[in-house]
Amino acid sequence: MKQKLLVTRQLFPEVLDFLRVDFDVDDNQADEQFDRDTLIERLRDKDGVLAMITERIDTVVLAEAARLAMVANCAVGTDNIDVAACTARGILVSNTPGVLTETVADHAFALLLAAARRLCAVDRWIRDRQWNRWSFTGWLGTEVHGATIGICGMGAIGQAIARRARGFDMRVFYHCRHRLDAAVERACGAEWQSKDELLAGADFIVLALPYSADTRHFIGAREIALMKPSAQLVNVARGGVVDDEALIAALRRGAIAGAALDVFENEPELDENFLGLSEVVLSPHIGSASRTTRLSMAMLAAENLKRGLLSGDPPNLVNPLARRQAR
Ligand code: GLV
Repeated sequence: MKQKLLVTRQLFPEVLDFLRVDFDVDDNQADEQFDRDTLIERLRDKDGVLAMITERIDTVVLAEAARLAMVANCAVGTDNIDVAACTARGILVSNTPGVLTETVADHAFALLLAAARRLCAVDRWIRDRQWNRWSFTGWLGTEVHGATIGICGMGAIGQAIARRARGFDMRVFYHCRHRLDAAVERACGAEWQSKDELLAGADFIVLALPYSADTRHFIGAREIALMKPSAQLVNVARGGVVDDEALIAALRRGAIAGAALDVFENEPELDENFLGLSEVVLSPHIGSASRTTRLSMAMLAAENLKRGLLSGDPPNLVNPLARRQAR
């Protein structure tokens, strides 16, 4: 008998077909977001799950999923999963690194450029039919070329953002817990700075670090107070890395110039106050959302699930210690 899988959200048909060769697949092509009870019910008889960032797989869910042997997250981040609890139960967890790196870096730059040149505000203004005469001194933006970018989190995505910044002749500062090798620093043209030095010196601060208890509110009131009044904050990491309430308060009093945000605390129910801030660029957690990349992510998650369940050897296993737990 085939093992049973749950695919929690709508997926490309070719990826479902790939999974159906070896597994009995319970899909969700209607793309309704499961509430907790539904997730628990649908997982009850499953051996594996292809999950998205919208599913919180924690101890309560795991306790009811007695057969579960593998969680393949269709994302590079795994903060929606209690990985330690999975490890303790011998449940393999995988993610989708690599395939989305350049696409997320593209989006970080799209946000940065949009914020610098006020693209969303001018777009709204034109649609509101307010453009009736051209102005030499109107709609002035901020220069990107020659500015200093400060990248927080210098994994693959941070490094890809740094390479783009060099193409714009920017000075590149970065901060992460473990300083990169000198050769990698040179290849990215990036200089390590302490967190506070970076925040004080950068014109554009770009967040590309994973979310964890340690990085919760990595940017809060204290950090914003260190930034230049002309600074712009770009977040392509996770909601929760920024204290949204502190950011909104700072933007309202003009403590920093702007922000461009792809992720929010409690998304998609973001703080309504963002909507009234005209200098904030908002996007709905679409950093990796090109068709090519989302298809690659889905295929990689499916391959992980297949290899994990059939041979115990998924290519992107994030918790190798899970293999040691007897099941
Ligand atoms: C998306 O946010 C991801 O972690 O891949």
